[in-house]
Amino acid sequence: MTDITDLVDIENGRLNGQMFTDEEIYQQELEKVWKRAWCFLAHDSQIPKKGDFFQNYIGEDPVMVVRQKDGSVAAFLNQCRHRGMRICRVDSGKAKAFTCSFHGWSYDLDGKLMNVPREDTAYPKDFDKSQWSAVAVPRLHNYKGFWFGSWDPDAPDFEEYLGSAKYYLDGYIDRWDEGMEVVSFNRWVLPNNWKFMAEQPTSDMQHSEITHVSAATVLNKASDAADRTLRGENPTGRQFFSDYGHGGAWYGEKGKEVPNTGKAMQEWEKRPEIAEQIARRLGDDREVRGHLNIWPTFMVLGNYTIRVTHPRGPGEQEIWSFAFAPKGADEQTKDSIRRDVMRTFSPAGMFEADDALNWEEMQAILNGRVARDSGFTYQMTGAPIQWDEGCYPGGSTQHVFSDNAAINMYSNYLDMMTSDSWEEIKAKRAQHRMGKPSESTN
Ligand code: FES
Ligand SMILES: [Fe+2]
Repeated sequence: MTDITDLVDIENGRLNGQMFTDEEIYQQELEKVWKRAWCFLAHDSQIPKKGDFFQNYIGEDPVMVVRQKDGSVAAFLNQCRHRGMRICRVDSGKAKAFTCSFHGWSYDLDGKLMNVPREDTAYPKDFDKSQWSAVAVPRLHNYKGFWFGSWDPDAPDFEEYLGSAKYYLDGYIDRWDEGMEVVSFNRWVLPNNWKFMAEQPTSDMQHSEITHVSAATVLNKASDAADRTLRGENPTGRQFFSDYGHGGAWYGEKGKEVPNTGKAMQEWEKRPEIAEQIARRLGDDREVRGHLNIWPTFMVLGNYTIRVTHPRGPGEQEIWSFAFAPKGADEQTKDSIRRDVMRTFSPAGMFEADDALNWEEMQAILNGRVARDSGFTYQMTGAPIQWDEGCYPGGSTQHVFSDNAAINMYSNYLDMMTSDSWEEIKAKRAQHRMGKPSESTN
């Protein structure tokens, strides 16, 4: 069996390429990471009324997320307990019940098996339907309109799992009284390992001034970044990381306008009643828009691209990407966000194409037997780690460019991969807190 501890060297900031190609490692990831983490399932705005449903995935497992008659939400594996066909074959919609298209078993909105054709005449009298309901997702949590689920009954509560990342995530999703809504949805497949992409919003802002310099210049969004690079200046900003592998970073100084959203959104946020909401909900000093990833793959980008990715073997992933807008915004502002997301991080988006090229090449090169073992470097750790510094909870670095959050992400990954229970993961994470004695609770 391939041993992950041979491939991840946290102390020396070195990873072996096999962790991005090996089928055995991938199978271990499905078991040890995806079956235990909290994963994004749906937003309230996608399933507002009873019977509304959205199909998503946790890892490779298809999950139905359904609004119940009483307004609550249930989630269950989209697999018929008869022979394993997909119970519901459409991605989203409204239903009174779900009937499998193979032999017609039908399930209630919460996944309970209701009806089996020919039960009266062809099944024995003691056939017990109650044993054959769809497999329920045992842990569900609604965090500010975003539904997350975990297959592990012993997973920590969602907010404990978020830890210090809550402060940063709230900066994006908890700004406005009326909340958010989905305004577009796209998905596509990329030929690369899921961890390449997860790492990027977690930690890698530095690629943006090289990889994205042309797109940024064309879009006049961050031509600043291009100029800065040519001038050899360092940008301001910050990177953070949290115990269970989350991380993010942003450019800019406190009090300065955040540059990630388009003009319409920035103007809308300047309206006195909206500015008041933001200040009331977040305080004056939260300046956190840039990139953020909640481990494993719930990604929030500053222009309100919010996406989740699903692994499809060691060399492929599916990206499910949403544009979110403030529910209370005018249609023009909402449309400008949608267009901005389309232009940047959609399948045809300029930044997306830049990123995808890197990951595709990296994965293809790993087909080589020498390339797979050469080893990758995570040693950009020049800026010191600070803990609970000023208004920034958890670990952070006063430099927008750092590998600290990536190392923290892989350290969490290694702890999950080598632990048999959440109890063990928690103990290891407390021990492996970077640059800080173990008493911190973040
Ligand atoms: S597989 Fe669903 S009814 Fe047979
Ligand atoms: Fe990028």
